[in-house]
Amino acid sequence: MRLALLGCGTVGSEVVRLLHEQSADLAARIGAPLEIAGIAVRRVGRDRGDLPVDPALFTTDPLALIKREDVDVVVEVVGGIEPARSWLVEALRAGKSVVTANKALLAEDGASLHDAAAEGGADLYYEASVAGAIPLLRPLRESLHGDRINRVTGIVNGTTNFILSAMDATGAGFAEALEEATELGYAEADPTADVEGFDAAAKAAILASLAFHTRVTAADVHREGITEVTAADVASAKAMGCTIKLLCIAARGADAEGRETVSVRVHPAMIPLTHPLASVSDAFNAVFVEAEAAGQLMFYGRGAGGAPTASAVLGDVVAVARNRLAGARAASESAYADLAVRPMGEALTRYHISLDVADRPGVLEAVAGVFARHEVSIATVRQGPAGGGPAGRGSDAELVIVTHIAPDAALAATVRELRGLEIVRSVASVLRVEGGA
Ligand code: NDP
Ligand code: HSE
Repeated sequence: MRLALLGCGTVGSEVVRLLHEQSADLAARIGAPLEIAGIAVRRVGRDRGDLPVDPALFTTDPLALIKREDVDVVVEVVGGIEPARSWLVEALRAGKSVVTANKALLAEDGASLHDAAAEGGADLYYEASVAGAIPLLRPLRESLHGDRINRVTGIVNGTTNFILSAMDATGAGFAEALEEATELGYAEADPTADVEGFDAAAKAAILASLAFHTRVTAADVHREGITEVTAADVASAKAMGCTIKLLCIAARGADAEGRETVSVRVHPAMIPLTHPLASVSDAFNAVFVEAEAAGQLMFYGRGAGGAPTASAVLGDVVAVARNRLAGARAASESAYADLAVRPMGEALTRYHISLDVADRPGVLEAVAGVFARHEVSIATVRQGPAGGGPAGRGSDAELVIVTHIAPDAALAATVRELRGLEIVRSVASVLRVEGGA
């Protein structure tokens, strides 16, 4: 088995290391030796430390490497949409199996890759693209294929989970926690994709596509990041026996005519401390799957990093290499259900709303009236002094309202109207509440 490796950075270099260290075991598991035919990189002359590989294998021409007749399997750990898409489509159409960790490409245009794989009769595996080392996509696309998945709720971004855990543990603000994440090497130099939720949204699209047998792209995912989460929100969550997590939620539902739909969203949410995802801290990932017959399942582990991600890549390499030796191909993409993706406005959830209001008679009634007009039912109300200062000082008060389940559009309309009230000084925060309690 000869493998073309595209990319030799954080993940690629660990793939090389593991291939070297475990070559005898891998050969035994596959039934043939596994060799690197070439490694495509951007800079051939880059210092790669003591990487156990012949320098002559490096090239800056990925396409020529892919097209070589002695290449059976292409492993892509470069990232980005183009030129990765063109390389992988070329490989798959030529009948070469592909293993990729490229969540951005799969979420943007997985269809092109799946179509090319079908055309070329090749395998397309991408376990490493969601939740790094955690075996998750294989269970979804194989082990749970006899079941019906109703909901997938996950923490799938390590950087944001580290930041929120730090804010929860130390009371730090977002900027301070991000600085710590950067110092520890979790956050990228440009952490936008992580903190704005783009990375989690790509993973949510991949998970939803597999769980619901429907092509879901990143554009279908409602996305909010964690940049607006404040230390006060975190403290408020604690006061309610909750913690704040950036969740990806993909769930079945139904439209007004009763037709089955899916909704896919990524946003920060309060979850009760008793929820299995609440104890997932630091840069760890976890995904909670609810299936009709299997019930609740939880997948937990390291969602990022060179070695953990390389572990998932090599698991896929063994699978596709075995298939090639057997002259077989894994089951192709399953998108038969083709469910419509429901707009965020129809998503049903509960909300925690914190308002700074004038502290005078009739305020509670006026605020409650706005919720009632939009048919958002209030579950609890707590009033305290504004800014957490001593009771009775100043003329403002803080109102914390938790609602029952309501459509997102109704809540948005409620908040819009509250913002226009003279008695509401500010809407300090609006957070969704997930997971019972
Ligand atoms: P890096 O930036 O560390 O490495 C990228 C590699 O691609 C480098 O070796 C680089 O070459 C090479 N490269 C970049 N552009 C080109 C090009 N045009 N032609 C040829 N080679 C090129 O990325 P990572 O290893 O962190 O990530 C790789 C993939 O894995 C991405 O899709 C990422 O989303 C995914 N992933 C990463 C995880 C992680 O923890 N890092 C976790 C899960 C998935 P050179 O070495 O010369 O610069
Ligand atoms: N930036 C991603 C994270 C890497 O923090 O989870 C893993 O996909």
